[in-house]
Amino acid sequence: MTALEKAKFNSASAAVRHVDRNMVLGVGTGSTVAYFVKLLGEKARREGLKLEAVPTSHYTALLLIEHGIKVVSLDEYPEVDLTVDGADEVDPHLNLIKGGGAALTREKVVASSSKKVVIIVDHTKLVTSLGEKTPVPVEVLPFAWKSVTKKLESLGAKPKLRDAGRAKDGPVITDNGNFILDVEFPAIQQPKVVEQAVKSIPGVVEVGIFTDLADLVYVGYEDKVESKEKPSDRKMHKAH
Ligand code: A5P
Repeated sequence: MTALEKAKFNSASAAVRHVDRNMVLGVGTGSTVAYFVKLLGEKARREGLKLEAVPTSHYTALLLIEHGIKVVSLDEYPEVDLTVDGADEVDPHLNLIKGGGAALTREKVVASSSKKVVIIVDHTKLVTSLGEKTPVPVEVLPFAWKSVTKKLESLGAKPKLRDAGRAKDGPVITDNGNFILDVEFPAIQQPKVVEQAVKSIPGVVEVGIFTDLADLVYVGYEDKVESKEKPSDRKMHKAH
């Protein structure tokens, strides 16, 4: 395992400790979450836990099944006990950029329907302000992508339609049948303001800026894990 993989594994291991008997989990998407699901399957088998999980993507649904965790839907459980998810960037206030795996919309729905949200990242994801290392993924209706692009450009941003690369000719199609714009912003000093400004553009389905959603972030290093907790005065958003 490389040092980076070990860092991801360490953050996932810390999150598994929050899982308890008979919990309904929300499970995010990505390579760090893949370690979490593997460890979850091992824990469930070892301790005889009856766990159920709402996946945030087809990718995660398949992974959960592979590791023996029962997949359930938000229709059955519109509120889940604990969501564990990765992130592309984490700022000092625990605001996040998500959507590197194009799963941001379902991830935001599930996180906002969760009593507690734990984010697992390796140390390379820490930034001083959002947008420092990665563009902001924005899910858009295919019908509207060009008009959303023009409106984002008029806000001073640089949107780029995400291409599927070698896996498919043309744009990435999300699990919801939409396109992704990867949007570079000059500097995101007020994440909530940017989130709301982009969200209000007609044709935008969801924005990969997550504010006030993470309760706890585990930051993995090769040989340790650090935790960052949201100040209690900012916990006001979610299902209870
Ligand atoms: C999925 O759309 C994203 O929000 C992921 O959570 C994010 O890209 C983190 O993925 P890794 O754990 O693979 O870095």
